[in-house]
Amino acid sequence: METKVITIDHNAMDLEVLQEAGKIIQNGGLVAFPTETVYGLGGDALNQESSKKIYAAKGRPSDNPLIVHICKMEDLAPIVQEIPEAVFRLAEAFWPGPLTIILKKSDMVPKETTGGLDTVAVRMPSHPVAQKFIEYAGGYVAAPSANVSGRPSPTKAKYVIEDMSGRIDMILDGDGIDIGLESTIVDMTGETPMILRPGYITKDMLEKVLGEVSMDKTILDINCKEPPKAPGMRYRHYAPKGQLTIVEGEEKTTIEKINELTKEAKSRGEKVGIIATEETKDKYLGDLIKSVGKRSDEDSIARTLYTILREFDDEEVSVIYSESFTECAMGQAIMNRLLKAAGHQIIYV
Ligand code: TXA
Ligand code: MG
Repeated sequence: METKVITIDHNAMDLEVLQEAGKIIQNGGLVAFPTETVYGLGGDALNQESSKKIYAAKGRPSDNPLIVHICKMEDLAPIVQEIPEAVFRLAEAFWPGPLTIILKKSDMVPKETTGGLDTVAVRMPSHPVAQKFIEYAGGYVAAPSANVSGRPSPTKAKYVIEDMSGRIDMILDGDGIDIGLESTIVDMTGETPMILRPGYITKDMLEKVLGEVSMDKTILDINCKEPPKAPGMRYRHYAPKGQLTIVEGEEKTTIEKINELTKEAKSRGEKVGIIATEETKDKYLGDLIKSVGKRSDEDSIARTLYTILREFDDEEVSVIYSESFTECAMGQAIMNRLLKAAGHQIIYV
């Protein structure tokens, strides 16, 4: 299959292009599109054949449910059994935006889209290209991140092209992927709302709107033996090709440890990449040292992390050492993704 790649400027959107993209979805095809978090790989959420195609294009296990993207609030009611009052408050506060809400699904949503579950994950993205595209696609676009299963989610079109060329009909290449980590997922089907995946919308932000919110305990407890509640969080996700290890401790001891490990690795012939910060980047010995930004700038760390992991892949780095980051606000999402990318390998110094 030949994949059409079209550049689109979100400040001056070419509506004809978006109409063409929408038509592809309505005819059962697949289109990758930018959102404010990461690129999505879209298909018609109400068409079971489209969902099957998405799983095939990603090489994703079909028990891992997809997020249904909508562009207006009226479109929520038909795909769920009921909308609890708290969900209206959530939508008012955070939609459109990087929040995915789990609700009980209606019969309109095929089980292929929800990986066999009776619940459905719904998100209304804020990216203008995503919004118009969803509208032209008929209102319901199932979209996982547009990466091959197991690779870091794409934050740039070139990574979508790398993973999806020849597998899907069209790629919309746009900018405005400002957040860089996937949406926060909150499950609203239980008594207490529960975060299944941390993201830009933090627990504190949700609690201001909802009152008490719990957190799936597998998110940050690396020793937890229970399976995570979001099926997709079970897999070793976001994985770079190089072996990643996190080193956590005071700045000085962390740098010393990483430099010691780097020397050992280089003597074995490994190519070493380091994930550093602005404050520390000049103090390392690795072959490739990349800064995620200032340690205090969580937005920059989130936006840069997946790009750096992909760049290390491109540069065929075989061993990666990363500093650890704090777990306040968005730091929790950053550490959750980093730990998964590291297959939970962390050294405390
Ligand atoms: O920011 C995002 O959410 C991006 C963009 C494209 O919108 N999408 C994304 O989709 O990250 P994906 O498929 O890569 O991750 C969806 C996650 C998976 O971990 C999946 O298991 C979980 O959401 N999920 C989906 N439906 C669910 C459900 N009904 N119950 C529990 N978890 C669900
Ligand atoms: Mg994903």
